[in-house]
Amino acid sequence: MSTQRSGTFVSNNYRMKKLLVINASARTDRSKSRLLTETFVDRWKNIHTNPIISFRELGTADIPHINEKWITASFKPGAARTSEDIEVLKTSDTYIAELRAADIIVLGSPMYNWSIPSTLKAYIDHVIRFNETWKPNLNNPANPYTGLLENKTLVLLLSRGSSGYEEGEANAHMNFQSTYLKTVFNIIGISNIHMIAINGVSEDKEKLERSINTSIRDVQQLIEKSLIEKELV
Ligand SMILES: Cc1cc2nc3c(=O)[nH]c(=O)nc-3n(C[C@H](O)[C@H](O)[C@H](O)COP(=O)(O)O)c2cc1C
Repeated sequence: MSTQRSGTFVSNNYRMKKLLVINASARTDRSKSRLLTETFVDRWKNIHTNPIISFRELGTADIPHINEKWITASFKPGAARTSEDIEVLKTSDTYIAELRAADIIVLGSPMYNWSIPSTLKAYIDHVIRFNETWKPNLNNPANPYTGLLENKTLVLLLSRGSSGYEEGEANAHMNFQSTYLKTVFNIIGISNIHMIAINGVSEDKEKLERSINTSIRDVQQLIEKSLIEKELV
């Protein structure tokens, strides 16, 4: 049983969904992907009394790259790991624990060079981890991976200087941003994915204004129409 009062969601059978908000833009104040993640968080806070929200900053942080020691340690069985292996995997363990704890992952990312920022790629290398977020599924050549993260929703909030990157559009063949993100999160078990993008950040001002307004409206509608309804248990 649920009611909507003055913009606040009230339910007798309510389990608060936990948010993890990840930002990957190297820009701060002028970032359009951050504008969308901030819009998401503001709207979420407006309609939840005590929201549970964690943040993971990538765009302005020094994200370590995985290296040979990391690879050796990550493919060893847990019991065989040395104290050095355990230390090397600490960042990865932290990032994966944050993903596991979240019900909804809100990821803000720019398109850089038709793909994603290298900080986000470095993060992805830490979270796509053997026997932690995926395991082999050799019986199925069409999809040889089993994702180990369950019951999660991913919200991709993207920004791009140009436009026409969606399927069937002129620049779709150059889109290694949303296509890549959807593929890798699918592999670790997250297939419930929503995407909202601001396009044309470097193009015509009026067109950009329209894209921003549409995206902000889409973020609000996504929360109200899809994410909140799914909170009923
Ligand atoms: C280093 C860099 C590379 C970029 N590469 C592309 C690109 O390949 N395609 C594109 O459409 N826009 C590109 N852009 C434009 C950004 O996608 C656009 O400015 C976007 O709004 C950046 O996200 P942000 O506003 O959240 O920082 C690039 C911008 C930068 C700074």
